[in-house]
Amino acid sequence: MLKLIDIHKSYKIGPTDLAILQGVDLEVFENDMLAIMGTSGSGKSTLMNIIGLLDKPTSGTYLLDDKEIMQYSDDELSSKRNEKIGFVFQQFNLLSRLTALENVCIPLIYRDTPTAIMHKQAMSMLKKVGMDDRADHRPNELSGGQQQRVAIARALVGKPALILADEPTGALDTRVGAEIMELFKTLNRDEGITIVIITHDPGIAEQCPRYVIMQDGKLVEKNLQNKGQAA
Ligand SMILES: Nc1ncnc2c1ncn2[C@@H]1O[C@H](COP(=O)(O)OP(=O)(O)OP(=O)(O)O)[C@@H](O)[C@H]1O
Ligand SMILES: [Mg+2]
Repeated sequence: MLKLIDIHKSYKIGPTDLAILQGVDLEVFENDMLAIMGTSGSGKSTLMNIIGLLDKPTSGTYLLDDKEIMQYSDDELSSKRNEKIGFVFQQFNLLSRLTALENVCIPLIYRDTPTAIMHKQAMSMLKKVGMDDRADHRPNELSGGQQQRVAIARALVGKPALILADEPTGALDTRVGAEIMELFKTLNRDEGITIVIITHDPGIAEQCPRYVIMQDGKLVEKNLQNKGQAA
């Protein structure tokens, strides 16, 4: 689905270049479920922004559906992002004045979907995440775990092939975090959605069939199957 080869990203701070990603190689396959782990400040969100087409690398190759992203125009990148990728964030990022249903509709607005169809699709996504009975609630009338479910419904409504989740359980207690992980696993298994989860929590990473660790600006692959041998 996507392949990163020798990706570098640095930020210019005054006269100096701050190198964050220093040769990241990563392949994400169709129907993959992968965690990216690393300490705070190691560059996980920077990498997610690049994978999610929100930011561009300083150098390196990023093949998305076998095409180098630099060959896409900005418009093509935006529509690729809108069609292909759903985002889930630590702080849910729901719009507080909108109901759960209206929040889930947001990605469809950019596609000029007629309102009745939009509501129907949003409702079916809320149902999928177990939140259809809270469709008319605003975010402040929902628990953290419920808000994250709505955010996942919003990420799903555009039928993305890929979900990028940046610390999706970071603001939730362990039990609710585990429920959100179960939801991701179900979506991966039953709907074939590719899921990339960014986390600093080894307990979350180990629930994924594959995980990689950010070390010195590069990724080191860890496979659960090999864990015993590696240790
Ligand atoms: N726009 C920017 N300009 C300059 N430096 C930045 C910018 N964005 C991030 N950085 C720096 O890049 C480094 C990596 O940041 P990033 O947000 O990717 O880390 P992270 O691994 O997601 O951390 P956390 O676990 O705390 O979310 C940090 O040292 C940060 O200060
Ligand atoms: Mg981060």
